[in-house]
Amino acid sequence: RNNFVIAIDGFSSCGKSTVAKALAKKLHFVFIDSGAMYRAVTLFFLRNNIDLLDTDAIESALENIHIDFVPDGGKLQILLNDEDVTEEIRMMYISDMVSEVSAIKEVRHAMVAQQQKLGKRRNIVMDGRDIGTTVFPDADLKIFMTANPRVRAERRFAELAAKGETVTMEDVIDNLAHRDHIDSTREESPLRQADDAFVLDNSTLDQEQQLNIVLEQYEKRK
Ligand code: C5P
Repeated sequence: RNNFVIAIDGFSSCGKSTVAKALAKKLHFVFIDSGAMYRAVTLFFLRNNIDLLDTDAIESALENIHIDFVPDGGKLQILLNDEDVTEEIRMMYISDMVSEVSAIKEVRHAMVAQQQKLGKRRNIVMDGRDIGTTVFPDADLKIFMTANPRVRAERRFAELAAKGETVTMEDVIDNLAHRDHIDSTREESPLRQADDAFVLDNSTLDQEQQLNIVLEQYEKRK
């Protein structure tokens, strides 16, 4: 492999994608949001009433799901079978179901395979839960992000409020705790820190500080 792979993992709403995007921009790497892929699968399952206990239905649904990322100005659009679902997948009703869907073995196998393909032959920054442990165990740089629960909930609440979703702080705290629990206790590639990951606690760091710390790690490894 002669491309450079940066894996950024951590709990929900720790600021992974903000750091990942800034880093990709700075280094001219391709940013891939693996969580968006699980969210798109969740949207497809909900729309098509897929029974999460029906393995056959899940397998055939997965064959009909095609996910693409396309640049849209400075942003990234996510396409589910050619439909732009960038906004829809951030809605709370998706967040409420995504961890259940992501815990399904067949879903993970399909997504991991796609993610590995996306990371072939080009320099990437991929954020998620299992990127440094399962998707790219040989990543050139692994970052594990944490932040205290209050900071995370406030971040998430502000994001949702900005989009006009009427949720309470309580809803947000419950959803984060629920996802963290399922994500870290599932059987198939649970969220955990890779042994060789650099830990970044961003509870008290601003975006520029976070980026500088990660860039320093990159310089050491490139
Ligand atoms: O990153 P984001 O919070 O958008 O991810 C949504 C959900 O997708 C997570 O809570 C987790 O259940 C799942 N996920 C995963 N593995 C990844 C990325 C996300 O299981 N690599």
